[in-house]
Amino acid sequence: MCGIYDKISSMDKIIIANWKMNPASLKEAEKIAKESDVEDLIICPPFLFLEAVSKTIHKAKLGAQDLFWEDKGAYTGEVSPVELKNLGVKYAIIGHSERRQNLGETDKIVAKKIAAAVDNDLTPILCVGETKDERAAGKTEEIIKRELKIGLSLLANQPHTLNPIIAYEPIWAIGTGTPDTPENMLNMVKFIKETLVTSGYTLNPKIIYGGSVNSQNAEEFLKHEEINGALVGGASLKSEEIIKIVKIAKQY
Ligand code: PGA
Repeated sequence: MCGIYDKISSMDKIIIANWKMNPASLKEAEKIAKESDVEDLIICPPFLFLEAVSKTIHKAKLGAQDLFWEDKGAYTGEVSPVELKNLGVKYAIIGHSERRQNLGETDKIVAKKIAAAVDNDLTPILCVGETKDERAAGKTEEIIKRELKIGLSLLANQPHTLNPIIAYEPIWAIGTGTPDTPENMLNMVKFIKETLVTSGYTLNPKIIYGGSVNSQNAEEFLKHEEINGALVGGASLKSEEIIKIVKIAKQY
């Protein structure tokens, strides 16, 4: 084992609000942030609103939705881990399937970003998951194994690193209203842990579920000790929804 978690207060479960490319205005962002400002929540707004959200929240923690792997320099349009750290960001989502699919982000790019996050004391939230077709073809384990092995390859054997958070997010469950089953997720947790061991990676990550989580279905996942939390997209833009999810998580 190496490293420690960035403890987010008393709760063992981690709830992450991924706002994606929402909302449209600063005013709305400040409103949602103010209304969702509870302990044990990590809020990941668009880069543009990070500073305003950091000034609005007092209890929640701040996360970014991505980062670049270099600290500074001629990288037009990118945001560095140092800039994020200096703004009070503690977490960074890396390798979200929307970035892999829409921007061609590869496992090697993901690996560089994960290492850059850890080098700057940001806890990386590595997203892994398969498409509907890949699942139908029985390739789920192959895909997840590859994403984990390559994605974590640059930090796996470094001493004194922060442990990453791993979010299993089946792509077919994201934004569809149809989550995976808790049973499948429990199998996936086992598989992820086994893969880390067989890869020789001395990491001890928290493993969370993402994909159409809302206040109605969150408990089915969060009640299991093995499932360490949830990554919430659409439902996280409604403060009453995300607060309910955090409350459910606190019970376990
Ligand atoms: P969703 O998104 O909750 O809207 O399905 C989850 C995610 O992509 O992180």
